Amino acid sequence: MGVGGTGSLLMLGFLAVVAWPTPAAAQAPPEGCVACHLEIGDDRLVTPAKEFQEDIHAGKGFGCTACHGGDPKAAGMEAMDPAKGYIGKPGRQQVVQVCGRCHSDARFMRQYNPALRVDQVAEYRTSGHGRRLLEAGDTKVATCTSCHRAHTIRPPSDPRSSVHPLMVAETCGACHGDAKYMKGYPVPTDQLEKYRRSVHWKMLSVKGDLSAPTCNDCHGNHGAAPPGVSWVGNVCGQCHTVMAVSFAKSRHAKVFAQMGSPGCATCHENHEVTEAGDEMLGLGAAAVCTRCHSPEDRGGKTAAAMREQIDTLRAEYDKAHTILQKAEHAGMEVSQAQFELNEAKNALVKARGPWRNCSSVERVWRSRW
Ligand code: HEC
Ligand code: HEC
Ligand code: HEC
Ligand code: HEC
Ligand code: HEC
Ligand code: HEC
Ligand code: HEC
Ligand code: HEC
Ligand code: HEC
Repeated sequence: MGVGGTGSLLMLGFLAVVAWPTPAAAQAPPEGCVACHLEIGDDRLVTPAKEFQEDIHAGKGFGCTACHGGDPKAAGMEAMDPAKGYIGKPGRQQVVQVCGRCHSDARFMRQYNPALRVDQVAEYRTSGHGRRLLEAGDTKVATCTSCHRAHTIRPPSDPRSSVHPLMVAETCGACHGDAKYMKGYPVPTDQLEKYRRSVHWKMLSVKGDLSAPTCNDCHGNHGAAPPGVSWVGNVCGQCHTVMAVSFAKSRHAKVFAQMGSPGCATCHENHEVTEAGDEMLGLGAAAVCTRCHSPEDRGGKTAAAMREQIDTLRAEYDKAHTILQKAEHAGMEVSQAQFELNEAKNALVKARGPWRNCSSVERVWRSRW
């Protein structure tokens, strides 16, 4: 089931009176709507007309009537005649139909941009947001214009867009980080705050690495729902493929699934993912292993042994590295030794995944020194 009964009726009524926009119509002369709205002297009415000038839809030749209906040629108040298809200010449910009228129509959209997806409404309907709005009538959840601001819509690649990677966290956080707004819902409101402390946000905002995830990379753009326990590993695994593959083979993957523990996030958190370091491993104060293992059980003993091995390996590596540097400064040929040392370093890096079998490190280590 998609839109509820009232929604479908609204949709039919709307389609009956609004002429289908065409690229040709888009070249029409300036609308009466804008001329009058710019002059009204009431911010609520002027701002949309002003802002819209830099909206992508204006750029593609559309005017106010594309979403609001009405008569673009009339200069007086009769422009806003419901008999001319004028719908006024769309309600939050109605917005979905207003946008979907074009964005769900592959044939229409292809004329402008064949590469653009046309499944936003379909996806949105399956999301926690969409289901609540369209089926339960909860108007506090996000609708299209909560994430894309009605008169300043821009492609995600535009740094000024509310859905540019650097802006998404703020856009979602406007609701999810606002405890007052979210009062009455059972979900926490700390996602933005925690995310802002994560290594992912640091990579994105400080290093400008747009491959690091923000809210929609883990939750989807239009199918926003919490990744259930069963696919948290898949969410992280989109990018951390090597880790995901080795984790899937581990004993932990099986027992965590049985325990209902959220895969990667069990040890790394979901929103506040921080840099991983050796301190996470073993039985020390900052180690994640102690949450479930004690020094007596097999997991705990292994955790301590792995940590010790990595510490030893690291100390040996540092020593070898220093010796090599001295040798190089003294003018010796060290490229082969350097190559081998690099391999040892790779092994060290690999060994840091706690589900890994330490014997692979040991093997490389013994073969070198
Ligand atoms: C002659 C001036 C004038 C013209 C032309 C005009 N408007 Fe308006 N518009 C107004 C005024 C005044 C209001 C506020 C009065 C009201 O709320 O009914 C308004 C209100 C609106 C609202 C807000 C309605 C609400 O429920 O809050 C929308 C949307 C709107 N106009 C869109 C349009 C569109 C689209 C066109 C062109 C088809 C248009 N206007 C043409 C003067 C105009
Ligand atoms: C891409 C669709 C779209 C276009 C094009 C568009 N609007 Fe809107 N407009 C909306 C939606 C949706 C709302 C309802 C508020 C919201 O969802 O944020 C709205 C709200 C408004 C309001 C009420 C604002 C308020 O705060 O109460 C006015 C006035 C308005 N639009 C005027 C215009 C004018 C004038 C134009 C042309 C310059 C225009 N709109 C073009 C989608 C659009
Ligand atoms: C009259 C048809 C029409 C309506 C109604 C409409 N759009 Fe669009 N929209 C377009 C077209 C055409 C483009 C340009 C696509 C392109 O060239 O990339 C576009 C572009 C966009 C883009 C940028 C896509 C990109 O990456 O290039 C977004 C985001 C968007 N629209 C969202 C909305 C939202 C949200 C609404 C409702 C408030 C809406 N649109 C209403 C036709 C429409
Ligand atoms: C207009 C406010 C608003 C905005 C903007 C918003 N959300 Fe929501 N969101 C809500 C509300 C309200 C709920 C309902 C809370 C609940 O399910 O208990 C919700 C629910 C969710 C849920 C849980 C869904 C479920 O099925 O339980 C997730 C995940 C989510 N939002 C992610 C996001 C992401 C990611 C963004 C930005 C891309 C975003 N939201 C933007 C208001 C918003
Ligand atoms: C919870 C926030 C949220 C809601 C609600 C939302 N969008 Fe989006 N939308 C996004 C984000 C984030 C992107 C950027 C994706 C990216 O970076 O490629 C996006 C991208 C788009 C695009 C560009 C093409 C694409 O699919 O990537 C269009 C068009 C679009 N949205 C239309 C809509 C329409 C229509 C609705 C209502 C049915 C809607 N959006 C509801 C967050 C949202
Ligand atoms: C690195 C991936 C990732 C990023 C980035 C991310 N989330 Fe989440 N989010 C998750 C996971 C995993 C869960 C937990 C799902 C579970 O336990 O079933 C979750 C849960 C949620 C929930 C449900 C309530 C809760 O806290 O458990 C909301 C709401 C939410 N995220 C919103 C957001 C918002 C808003 C942002 C951006 C500020 C964001 N998320 C960024 C992965 C992510
Ligand atoms: C959209 C891609 C993407 C997704 C999804 C993603 N990450 Fe990341 N992650 C990155 C990038 C990029 C970095 C920074 C570069 C690096 O260290 O690889 C990073 C860094 C990390 C780090 C720090 C690595 C270090 O060297 O200290 C950890 C730990 C991490 N992510 C865990 C997770 C977890 C857990 C999830 C799921 C909840 C997740 N990531 C989801 C891309 C992603
Ligand atoms: C049982 C706890 C645990 C689970 C589950 C877990 N990790 Fe880790 N992860 C760690 C520890 C501990 C380290 C740090 C090891 C070290 O630095 O010695 C680490 C390191 C990392 C690193 C940094 C590796 C590097 O080479 O710098 C990334 C990225 C990472 N994990 C991602 C993931 C992903 C993705 C998943 C799920 C597929 C996952 N982890 C599941 C405990 C865990
Ligand atoms: C969320 C709880 C949890 C966390 C955190 C956790 N483990 Fe485990 N681990 C388990 C469970 C449950 C088993 C299965 C025990 C069994 O088979 O009886 C297990 C099994 C193991 C085993 C296999 C032991 C055997 O009996 O063969 C090793 C090794 C292990 N864990 C190491 C670690 C290390 C290292 C860490 C920290 C990086 C860690 N674990 C973090 C719950 C956890």
